Amino acid sequence: MLQRDFGGDEVIFDSAIDGAPAVQVAMARPLAPLPPRPPTEEPLVADVTVPRPAPGANRPPSNAVPALDGKAADWRKDAPPIPGPGLSVSSVSSTATPLWQTLDEIAAVVRTCTLCPLCRTRTLAVPGEGDPRARLMLVGEGPGESEDLSGRPFVGRAGDLLDRMLASIEIQRTDTFIANVVKCRPPKNRVPLPDERNACLPYLRRQIALVQPRLLVALGGTATEALLGVKKSLGELRLKVHEWNGIPLIVTYHPAALLRNPAWKRPAWDDIRIARQLLDRGA
Ligand code: URA
Repeated sequence: MLQRDFGGDEVIFDSAIDGAPAVQVAMARPLAPLPPRPPTEEPLVADVTVPRPAPGANRPPSNAVPALDGKAADWRKDAPPIPGPGLSVSSVSSTATPLWQTLDEIAAVVRTCTLCPLCRTRTLAVPGEGDPRARLMLVGEGPGESEDLSGRPFVGRAGDLLDRMLASIEIQRTDTFIANVVKCRPPKNRVPLPDERNACLPYLRRQIALVQPRLLVALGGTATEALLGVKKSLGELRLKVHEWNGIPLIVTYHPAALLRNPAWKRPAWDDIRIARQLLDRGA
């Protein structure tokens, strides 16, 4: 990774992570205005002036997050404030992303894709699904067993939890678009290899470009690294509003990680309430 210092507190990284097409990442840059959407909508984060908070910093660790366990809870109560800006990523390589014109076209290409060895072990590819005009787009890592059998994202246990997370902030899954970094299941649910990820990323990039969500949520480390182009812990990247090609992006724990480690449900609850507030700002 090359690092160029532009003076002040701005640092640009030219990310050549895993040989992926060059991506520029700027730290601590003010957020650019959102690309135009419906004329009545206000910019989502342009007026963010709240100093970086540390929601939950003084809170005793607790696994009890009723809202994520299917119990009624008002997400507005003690919701953390919207955090300040983080990294800003802009893809500088336009030729790397083929110009598929529709999400259906991408799905058709994905279903017969043979660009990486995962095609040999998959049952069904999982292109992603949801509202093509979704305001919220969620990005996971890759299909698991249930997804591989059904061809649909997040339909197993992690998917159940994701549905509950969405319900807790009064959002229905059908109002979102859900996609993964890799579209085919890695054997034994291992983390996708860099070559597999890089072969698949043009699909995700084009899906985001076509949906043009108002907010991206990266679920877990693989999605975060693939989109932000940096290898940092989620702890370092949470609680900031990053930007991916002009689209605000926040990161949180993967639902499967929350199932393994319920102590992360509390910070994830803060993250999704931040997401909900960001969406409300643009509503
Ligand atoms: N985990 C993911 O990252 N994606 C899915 O679709 C299912 C589980």
